[in-house]
Amino acid sequence: MARIGASVYTSHVPAMGVAMDLNKTGEPYWQPVFKGYEASRAWMKANPPDVVFLVYNDHANAFSLELIPTFAIGCAEAYKPADEGWGPRPVPVVKGHPELAAHIAQSVIQDDFDLTIVNRMDVDHGLTVPLSMLCGKVDAWPCPVIPFAVNVVQYPVPSGRRCYALGQAIRRAVASYDEPLNVHIWGTGGMSHQLQGPRAGLINREFDNAFLDRLIADPAGLAQMPHVYYVREAGSEGIELVMWLIARGAMNDALPRVVHRFYHVPASNTAVGHLVLENA
Ligand code: DHB
Ligand code: FE
Repeated sequence: MARIGASVYTSHVPAMGVAMDLNKTGEPYWQPVFKGYEASRAWMKANPPDVVFLVYNDHANAFSLELIPTFAIGCAEAYKPADEGWGPRPVPVVKGHPELAAHIAQSVIQDDFDLTIVNRMDVDHGLTVPLSMLCGKVDAWPCPVIPFAVNVVQYPVPSGRRCYALGQAIRRAVASYDEPLNVHIWGTGGMSHQLQGPRAGLINREFDNAFLDRLIADPAGLAQMPHVYYVREAGSEGIELVMWLIARGAMNDALPRVVHRFYHVPASNTAVGHLVLENA
């Protein structure tokens, strides 16, 4: 049977991807950010997953206001890096895992979560930046990836409670897959940031660190937090954090082992948060 061995949480600040692509990670501004991921890159190499189930959001690149799936699962063989206006990032094509993705779609939809099936899409910085942060500059990503896109861009967006319960359904789906795969699930986006309007540049360290504490120790309680609280405390784009609850919901009920925790301000307009949790 397949199992979820670990979960990873990370911001997806596009400028971190650009810093890697332009070889600027050693510059004084970026050095502390990338230092915060060194331990996780070593952990990834020492504990390689067979598949990464990567929960992220598209930023109007694969989808648009014409088509807004709340939850979309990638069932394709491969996904190209999206052209977000400056040409695609120079990173490898993402290989999928159509068999496991189709199994998870079957199980989760029968478990009453209405997913959109995606058989062709490009993946933007929401997916490629987390891969770059955890895997470094590589010729090929270390394993197949199942992209799972969540709408956190256009209201109405799903609640933290719904996301947490969906994670639990994904846990059951993985556990019923008839092959001994070690699956890691990633929750990405956040932490506090607001990119537009009078509050642009908003960062809330206290909120972010309390979110990390509760994500580790009280995820079911954290899942009850309403949207307005995210937006008020963590800024309009802070709502991306609901995606972390999908990954956390997929973990076992026992308290996980904290492999690595990192928090840094600033990176571009965003607070960077990062956690690696192993299942007990
Ligand atoms: C920035 C952060 C994001 O999460 C994003 O999707 C786009 C831009 C930023 O900080 O610039
Ligand atoms: Fe974003």
